[in-house]
Amino acid sequence: MIGGLEIDWRQRYGPWAVVAGASTGIGASFSEQLAARGLNLVMIALTGTGLTQQAARLEQRHGIATLCLEMDLADASAVARLPDLIARRQVGLLVYVACHSVIGEYLQISLADKLKMVDVNVRGPLLLIDALAPAMQRRGHGGILLMSSLSGFQGSAMVATYAATKAFNTVLAEGLWSELQEDGVDVLALVAGATHTPTFDALTPRHRQKTVYPMQPDAVVREALQQLGRRPTHIAGRLNRVVNWVLRRILSRRNAIRFISHNTKRVYRDEHGRTD
Ligand SMILES: NC(=O)c1ccc[n+]([C@@H]2O[C@H](COP(=O)([O-])OP(=O)(O)OC[C@H]3O[C@@H](n4cnc5c(N)ncnc54)[C@H](OP(=O)(O)O)[C@@H]3O)[C@@H](O)[C@H]2O)c1
Repeated sequence: MIGGLEIDWRQRYGPWAVVAGASTGIGASFSEQLAARGLNLVMIALTGTGLTQQAARLEQRHGIATLCLEMDLADASAVARLPDLIARRQVGLLVYVACHSVIGEYLQISLADKLKMVDVNVRGPLLLIDALAPAMQRRGHGGILLMSSLSGFQGSAMVATYAATKAFNTVLAEGLWSELQEDGVDVLALVAGATHTPTFDALTPRHRQKTVYPMQPDAVVREALQQLGRRPTHIAGRLNRVVNWVLRRILSRRNAIRFISHNTKRVYRDEHGRTD
């Protein structure tokens, strides 16, 4: 609903949506909720494990069509084949969720992993936006949703590179929101805090998980789809919005960095701290 009016999702953002990183967590929730709105889905993942079964389930449950693509989004030559792979499917919505995240002290993380974070989290969105947005602009409608994180609002120990890639997505989405608005293309940076996904489970020590109050992916995605077309940036979850308000408005930048770094170390240092 925008301005009290029910949105026709297929008309405004369809008939096809591309979900990059569709196989698990937040991307799987996006796939489910977009399918429920009647959009056909191009579902992209790196390995595609379980992707085909998930797609078949969505087709059956929501009567939509799907196309599953196993693709390394960090690889420009692979993404260059996308227009051929999707053939004449009209894509009205891009949701970029895929991410490479490695937690640890900067100097303990390999350069290869740091560059991969830049490739998947920064280069990937640029490649897909360039592949899909020109047609949206020509048609005069469409949407782009880039996944960001609270960690992208300030630097933090243990996630320096990851957080910087997320800052890139927030700022990129905000710029595109302003630029593409007049072309009818809605852009949103979705800023999530801790969210209960398989990657979160794998990276966060179990006894620390509750201390960061994770949201469920479905709730994060529900908010995002409500906010697309209304604003440039949305922080999912009331608690996350309050914490962010305090960090921005009450603490100095230096103290915000200290506070976030302290908490991030407390959560992750046992598991991802120095090994020597
Ligand atoms: N979970 C959280 O607590 C949290 C908090 C804040 C922000 N976020 C953001 O939310 C997004 C989703 O997070 P998540 O935890 O649901 O899942 P995720 O582990 O960050 O992303 C998983 C998805 O990305 C795909 N992917 C990863 N690398 C890829 C590559 N090189 N090429 C193509 N696909 C690739 C995976 O495919 P495969 O399954 O085939 O590997 C999978 O579909 C991320 O952008 C993350 O930064 C998450």
